[in-house]
Amino acid sequence: MFKVKAEVNFSASHENLVVGLFDRPVKFEGGLAALDEMFGGQLNELAKSGDISGKLKEVGKLHTLGKAGAKKIWFVGLGREKEFTFDKLREALGRAFKSLKNAKQEEVALYLDSFLAGDIDAEDAAYAVSEAFALSTYIFEGYKQKPNEPEKKLEEITIYSEAADEQEINASLTVGYAYGRGTNSARTLVNTPGNMLKATDLAEYARKLGEKYGFETEILGLEEIRKLGMGALLAVNQGSVEEPRMIVLKYQGKETWEDAIGLVGKGITFDTGGYSIKTKTGIVGMKTDMGGAAAVLGAMEIIGELKPEQNVVAVIPSTDNMIGGGAFKPDDVITSMSGKTIEVLNTDAEGRLVLADAMTYAKHHGAQYLVDVATLTGGVITALGLHTTGAMTNNEELFEQVLEASYEAGEQMWRLPIFEKDLERVRGSKIADLNNSPGSEGHAVMGGAFVGEFAEGTPWVHLDIAGTATSRQDTDLGPSGATGVMSRTLALFVERFEPFEK
Ligand code: BES
Ligand code: ZN
Ligand code: ZN
Repeated sequence: MFKVKAEVNFSASHENLVVGLFDRPVKFEGGLAALDEMFGGQLNELAKSGDISGKLKEVGKLHTLGKAGAKKIWFVGLGREKEFTFDKLREALGRAFKSLKNAKQEEVALYLDSFLAGDIDAEDAAYAVSEAFALSTYIFEGYKQKPNEPEKKLEEITIYSEAADEQEINASLTVGYAYGRGTNSARTLVNTPGNMLKATDLAEYARKLGEKYGFETEILGLEEIRKLGMGALLAVNQGSVEEPRMIVLKYQGKETWEDAIGLVGKGITFDTGGYSIKTKTGIVGMKTDMGGAAAVLGAMEIIGELKPEQNVVAVIPSTDNMIGGGAFKPDDVITSMSGKTIEVLNTDAEGRLVLADAMTYAKHHGAQYLVDVATLTGGVITALGLHTTGAMTNNEELFEQVLEASYEAGEQMWRLPIFEKDLERVRGSKIADLNNSPGSEGHAVMGGAFVGEFAEGTPWVHLDIAGTATSRQDTDLGPSGATGVMSRTLALFVERFEPFEK
């Protein structure tokens, strides 16, 4: 896929060459002067006339007509050097790869050193290249008789760089590519319809992932879930003809099982709302209600590839949320694995129920830190829109580490509060310890506060991805549909994680 060359050679023959251009008065200088010379100084002239632009994300194509080794040069605008960031680099590269994909190109060379500025070095840029490549060329095949597959795929990428040694660049390419592909796997899971991805299918997927990377795998079926008293997961599953699963994957990267991070992902394979049934428009798209599970599995794939020195236990509670003669109902009182009883006021607030048992089970497996990810509430969309994940926590230090990872991954999040008064509301049932839907004010906060009750003092961060798990529009880094959001943040968080005094 990737080839690295330590000597820059603009005469080498390629179908395409990708060059980054900053928005500055003289564009072809330094390493690019040699390219300009091949055109007798015409490139700087073209740049002056505006035909080749350094404006952020503008992509221009030039047929070289034999004047350079590559048949076509694609200039990618990077904006002003001073305002350059890693996110801009990643998105500009995504835009470039998309243009190549749309032009049905199969081979490309990329002059890496033209993308460097400020504190972004060749290794960072190599990481951005492979990640952006994987993300921006992602396609969900779908089920048309003629699949949504490109006739031609970009399959050969040669990277030219004199700014770092070959090995370092190769290592960064590997890491970026793992991040991109892990995210794409999460996207595919989320894009898959509910009739094709049931709890048993999700479990089978996790089992295969575990087999591939040597994770310890535990998959609980109906009987074991009953025996362990996971009454909250069972209640949500009651209306279904499909069996639930509690999926556990353990990755041990340290010598002993200590400081384990629990990653908990909501795995509702379809959410009808149950008897608090959704509207005919609100129900469409609810195959994506396992976006949290997908993010966790995507992260586990990245972790399996990169093998960081950390301990991780992934826990995924999975079922669909259906109606039927045996389904749970509003007013039911259920007992979770933790022993806490819950008054069900809304069967559509099912995510927090299955997460409750999964949080308890993650702790049972030794999780000392917890991060849960869930398409939990429409309320988070009202609060933060479609581009920002809602975060809640009971621990500043853990939150800082997750937030830091989200910056690096380029996945926006913003914190919402959980105050004592909010806890009073989720604890405000007359007949049970908790209620699952204390009213429509602050849905996102209520969801978070409820899940946090099951952390019981363990440092915990909650990520509500109801708005960010899917995108209505194509972006520079992927098509509309599932985004695979939080796979990269979680994996980065795990890679960089530093345990702390609690
Ligand atoms: N799966 C939904 C949340 C959701 C909404 C995800 C829109 C993606 C897009 C969740 O189970 C749900 O229905 N939440 C309710 C909670 C309420 C009943 C307390 C909501 O947000 O309306
Ligand atoms: Zn729901
Ligand atoms: Zn749901």
